[in-house]
Amino acid sequence: MALKTRFTETFGIEHPIVQGGMQWVGRAELVAAVANAGALGFITALTQPTPEKLTEEIARCRSLTDKPFGVNLTILPAIKPPPYAEYRQAIIEAGVKIVETAGNKPVEHVAEFRKHGVKVLHKCTSVRHALSAERMGVDGISIDGFECAGHPGEDDVPGLILIPAAADKVKIPMIASGGFGDARGLVAALALGADGVNMGTRFMCTVESPIHENIKRQIVENDERATDLIFRTMHNTSRVAKNAISQQVVALEREGAKFEDVRELVAGSRGRNVYEVGDNDAGIWSAGQVQGLIHDVPTCAELVGRIVREAEEIIEGRLGRMLGRRALQSA
Ligand SMILES: Cc1cc2nc3c(=O)[nH]c(=O)nc-3n(C[C@H](O)[C@H](O)[C@H](O)COP(=O)(O)O)c2cc1C
Repeated sequence: MALKTRFTETFGIEHPIVQGGMQWVGRAELVAAVANAGALGFITALTQPTPEKLTEEIARCRSLTDKPFGVNLTILPAIKPPPYAEYRQAIIEAGVKIVETAGNKPVEHVAEFRKHGVKVLHKCTSVRHALSAERMGVDGISIDGFECAGHPGEDDVPGLILIPAAADKVKIPMIASGGFGDARGLVAALALGADGVNMGTRFMCTVESPIHENIKRQIVENDERATDLIFRTMHNTSRVAKNAISQQVVALEREGAKFEDVRELVAGSRGRNVYEVGDNDAGIWSAGQVQGLIHDVPTCAELVGRIVREAEEIIEGRLGRMLGRRALQSA
């Protein structure tokens, strides 16, 4: 048996589970393992230093799986922006058929991708942005609640409200994101009106995830309170794992620090070091509140298999029995 949703049908994926783009983490080995497990993984374009390297990474992923996978293109405000059009061209030329866009209005990218038959799943954090992406012509929405790792936006609306609020208005397939890590989350997302779930932090903590074992262990040890919101005062909020550096940044922000004052602390190269050397306090790294629900480091196949199997058990078992009892009572 399999869970069939508008997402699985539209994107041609076996299970309604997505591994969203993750800077430094979304590399070929993880994405291929997710694909081989029957879910949809995204290589993170900007983890590759050049569009040429992205082309190589896509080829490397193809050598590890014959299942569909995608590429995430995150469009962030930057003083010196990366060559987005060239990354986009590399994705199109490599024949990738699904892209996850995130960040600033992706209008020109969406138009180009669609022209070349690439399906676009746009990730955003508010109903209004979801509707604007729908008008732009994207094929699906990934809606990220306040619980999520990375950029939750500035509205602070948790998934329990955001998902049904978006489901009431969005007409195209929609994936719920932020705080999902197990079968209970998937069933809840489906009940709230979504067609599947997107997971970041949970996939970070798998055997195939290309980060240091110490950091996977740290995620398992951390509970749901082990995150900080940095850049709140700069209206560019980011949910990260709570550590010595994130606490320092939060304290400095409270004292009125500007980006220049924390620039060195939050440098991407330091964050990358966390994953490479396994030092939790080496820099800033993204993780969500769902850490409180993560207790092991399974393979992607074990994780996806477990979520799908247990989701079916919840629907047919626990929920089904509730319905059965009600039916008996009213008979
Ligand atoms: C380590 C890490 C890096 C991330 N980097 C990106 C990124 O570069 N682009 C992006 O669109 N989302 C990024 N995200 C967000 C995820 O794609 C996803 O939306 C989020 O993790 C969902 O919340 P969850 O962690 O509670 O599952 C990142 C998340 C993590 C954990």
